[in-house]
Amino acid sequence: EIKSDMGDCRLCELSNLRSNIVFGEGSRNADLVFVGEAPGADEDKQGQPFVGRAGQLLTKIIEAMGLKRQGVYICNILKCRPPGNRNPKPEEIEKCEPFLIRQLFTINPKVICALGTFSAKTLLKTELPISTLRGRFYRYHNMQLMPTYHPAYLLRNPEAKKLVWQDMQMIMKEIGL
Ligand code: URA
Repeated sequence: EIKSDMGDCRLCELSNLRSNIVFGEGSRNADLVFVGEAPGADEDKQGQPFVGRAGQLLTKIIEAMGLKRQGVYICNILKCRPPGNRNPKPEEIEKCEPFLIRQLFTINPKVICALGTFSAKTLLKTELPISTLRGRFYRYHNMQLMPTYHPAYLLRNPEAKKLVWQDMQMIMKEIGL
């Protein structure tokens, strides 16, 4: 129903540039939902979230947690690719966030993992940097939200992987793994 309400969405200018809406994918009964920033070139081409290089790393992280990619849910703040992967604009977030909120309330996971500054700041309505936010849970309505570094950041800064793994271990404990 959320997807059909989104339809061939034209609420912002990104709709003129996209190849595909990247709605999100995974289990609608997931205990864990990952929320990234916005589709990149690979995701826009394929219509699926996190399928490029950062996505392959995210899949490895999910599997290291003892989960399967199909067992969690993966989506983004924005459903359409910003040109040249520029940062989302406030008016784009304003138009797109209601769809994400409906996704989160429908799935109602135990834990939301916000990937990267953009996702964490949008969901938590804060201006604090991800380095300050990560490493602890925040309340998001009746769900727990863990901010952590984005896998694209990990590709550039592999030394941060151990911090992300600490965050994933806290998530695993929270969802009973
Ligand atoms: N980066 C994101 O934030 N989301 C994707 O879907 C892919 C890369």
